Amino acid sequence: TYVVTDACIRCKFTDCVSVCPVDCFYEGENMLVIHPDECIDCGVCEPECPADAIRADTEPGMENWLELNRKFSGLWPNISEAIAPPEDAQSFVGVEGKFEAYFS
Ligand code: SF4
Ligand code: F3S
Repeated sequence: TYVVTDACIRCKFTDCVSVCPVDCFYEGENMLVIHPDECIDCGVCEPECPADAIRADTEPGMENWLELNRKFSGLWPNISEAIAPPEDAQSFVGVEGKFEAYFS
């Protein structure tokens, strides 16, 4: 499966949503997550993210993100169409510490 990491926080460009063939993204206030059981591992979303927030869970260090994606995809609503990103999205690309400051 693929997972969304903290690089998505406050960026939420939703290019990933536009390309996902199975609509397995779920929307929180400040980031999206992928439902690990619904993702078909096609990989098309990964290069589409302008914030480079999407990773294969087989990459090192992804265990916690996988757990977070699993948990919140069960709590947050599905998102199947791209939406306008936050106005200040670009200013949050590559910023460190977004999880501690803004996760929701
Ligand atoms: Fe959707 Fe494919 Fe990305 Fe999984 S890897 S979230 S199925 S676009
Ligand atoms: Fe987030 Fe990137 Fe999608 S910023 S909403 S994972 S395109």
